[in-house]
Amino acid sequence: MSTARNHFGALALACIATLAHAQDANKLKVGLMLPYSGTYAALGVAIENGFRLRLDEQGGKLGGREIEFVKVDDESDPAKATDNVNKLIKRDNVDVIIGTVHSGVTMAMAKAAKESGTVLIVPNGGADAVTGPMCAQNIFRSSFSNWQPAFAMGEVAAKQGKKNAITITWKYAAGDESVAGFKEGFEKGGGTVAKQLTVPFPNVEFQALLTEIAAAKPDAVYAFFAGGGAVKFVKDYAAAGLNKTIPLYGPGFLTDGTLEAQGESAQGMLTTLHYADGLDTPRDTSFRTAYAKTYKLQPDVYAVQGYDAAQMLGIGLAAVKGDISKKPEFAAAIEKARIDSPRGAFTISKAHNPVQDIYLRRVVGNENKLVNVAVKNLADPARGCKL
Ligand code: BEZ
Repeated sequence: MSTARNHFGALALACIATLAHAQDANKLKVGLMLPYSGTYAALGVAIENGFRLRLDEQGGKLGGREIEFVKVDDESDPAKATDNVNKLIKRDNVDVIIGTVHSGVTMAMAKAAKESGTVLIVPNGGADAVTGPMCAQNIFRSSFSNWQPAFAMGEVAAKQGKKNAITITWKYAAGDESVAGFKEGFEKGGGTVAKQLTVPFPNVEFQALLTEIAAAKPDAVYAFFAGGGAVKFVKDYAAAGLNKTIPLYGPGFLTDGTLEAQGESAQGMLTTLHYADGLDTPRDTSFRTAYAKTYKLQPDVYAVQGYDAAQMLGIGLAAVKGDISKKPEFAAAIEKARIDSPRGAFTISKAHNPVQDIYLRRVVGNENKLVNVAVKNLADPARGCKL
């Protein structure tokens, strides 16, 4: 009798284990490769928050599939990027990767995604190459190319009558491409970039370069920094008294998610970005209310990009009924979608980069207040993309 009971118990346990395994196997494995430490840590957290908010709104499922996360802190370190992404692809067998922030790390991820065919959605990293020469059917971006906000700022600065600018940035792909985009827009409008200053990423020793700027007396300075580095740069610029004489322009990363820490030093600054405070649309208001309620924080552009990465994944998965191996159908659904973003609806280009409005914003208090639309429906030129 007791032997029969033991057999029955073992059978029941085996059934439960098989059922649990089947349920797990039905989950979509999402690799979140983001910075959770270093100068971009806050950006990584905001992206994950945004992604999870959308997932919660969808009852924890996308395309009918529950989601299981595997998380990696990429430390914004390109030297570790290939190992990190290959662990997700080969060891953890993820179905899709969401990441990352740093352009150099993003390019290593795009290379691995292209080689393995794993779906990659980039929720920030602006490296132009990702939707340029590296473009692929399985690689998408929910954010921007480095060229987009930078080109818009160049046009704005030229329209404001600035003739002679100095640029300053971290020396890596995002900074170099941001400066190149600004230069293109600025020179088109008749301006000249007199000098291009750089510091190694993620250094924040700006004093010698600020002294050089003060001596050169340009009409304008264009800077690319983000996260903790942007806080330090904007404060140092003001502490050197430069904000009183030489306007500081930049892509909106210079002041997004940073204003509480920058305080007085950022007031009045003009930046360009695909998101702004005060859009005052029902879509943005409901997003901001939900985000603030869930995280007790105001969202920034990074949160929006994470939220939209989940929206894009949901659109693709719905079209293939959760079967992400159907890559052409998955891509086609995203390509023809109009993504209902808090930033304003956008579409995805052939190269899989958002075609979107770029806003001019002015810092007022703790907000990057909408001034106007600097460039409507701006598409990245996707130079070198052969899709
Ligand atoms: C980048 O490396 O692409 C990047 C990082 C932070 C903000 C914007 C762009």
